[in-house]
Amino acid sequence: MTMTDFETVDKNFLFKRAALKWAPWPEDVISLSVADLDFAAPREIKEGIIRAVNEDRTPYGSYGGDADVLEAVCDKLQRINKIPATPDHVHMIPGTMFAIFLVCYYFLKPGDEAIICPGPVYPPFIHNVLNAQAVPIFNPLDFQNGLKLDLDDLRSRITPRTRLLMVSNPHNPTGRVFSLRELEGIAEIAQKHDLLIFADELYEDMIFEGEHTSMASLSGDLFQSTITVFGFSKAFGIPGYRIAYLVTGGNFMKDLKKRIHDVIVHADTLAQAAARAALTSGSPWLKNLMNHLKKMRDYTVERLSQIPGIRCPVPEATPFLFPNIASFGMTSKEMTEYLKEKAKVIVMDGAEFGPPGEGFIRINFATAHSILKEAMDRTEKALREI
Ligand SMILES: Cc1ncc(COP(=O)(O)O)c(C=O)c1O
Repeated sequence: MTMTDFETVDKNFLFKRAALKWAPWPEDVISLSVADLDFAAPREIKEGIIRAVNEDRTPYGSYGGDADVLEAVCDKLQRINKIPATPDHVHMIPGTMFAIFLVCYYFLKPGDEAIICPGPVYPPFIHNVLNAQAVPIFNPLDFQNGLKLDLDDLRSRITPRTRLLMVSNPHNPTGRVFSLRELEGIAEIAQKHDLLIFADELYEDMIFEGEHTSMASLSGDLFQSTITVFGFSKAFGIPGYRIAYLVTGGNFMKDLKKRIHDVIVHADTLAQAAARAALTSGSPWLKNLMNHLKKMRDYTVERLSQIPGIRCPVPEATPFLFPNIASFGMTSKEMTEYLKEKAKVIVMDGAEFGPPGEGFIRINFATAHSILKEAMDRTEKALREI
């Protein structure tokens, strides 16, 4: 079998099956919105699932995860993330999103404050805090100053009601990879105020420049006060399989595990087989994917930079661009509507990522060059007409 061809995107298939990204739109529309990859899944992952099917893995499995999967997860956590995890510290879950829900549901009480570090952020962070009747407090990213974290601002937002510090790193939507110094700054503030940290590190494998450091690797104390979530939806292109894992050294983990069992019993056995295959044999695919995505990033940034009025920083990670479109005199929602009507290109409204995202749009470049070229031709034409 051959490697995935990242230039072959089957639009007929996507319009039928990519229910969130492509299927809602007529077939003359190009969707650069929802964070799917437009490529076929790695062969190794398909084979891992087929093996599990043929082994008749139909009985209930272990609550936290199947032993061989937890072994692969802990090996990766120790080797790559430098997180000293054993299976007791880990739980397989049905998607990264489930960890965002769980942390808000389990730790936030009505009236508590959760600091989003930084805002803008992946919208479900905000929704789940609100669903817990708590208050999201944004620590805005410093867009004027190289997309740096503003730690003085973060300090100033702590109140007696602050309970949780929610960190997206690498950052959706801007693609920042936070430096060791920035992470140490967050850690110092969290420890001084005895805050729990939630670290969403889903994009750890999608790095172009810079080095990803896991918050929970910084010290033994931080391992205990941080819940980290990693997943497979993005770097391995299998969001439909709904599989991820969370890890913490916190002494609340035993109770948290019971809560998870009360809701889902355990994560899907076949999805866990996919996770194991990704961890044990997904690296060659990932390397090829990232080679392709780097070219797509550079191409799309270059095209956008040629359009008067757009400012587009180069992301260090993730399949996203987050260009500033404020100079066109439209809100970001109006801009997404305009591009939908005029260019038939779907992008995301930056304001959905919280108030600090107003004035920006998010573009997902995880597709083939031919699709990006057509989308950029149409976008450029529409924007030059304003
Ligand atoms: C930062 C972040 N966390 C979580 C998710 C959800 O991932 P999953 O499909 O694993 O639930 C996404 C998806 O876009 C995301 O960007």
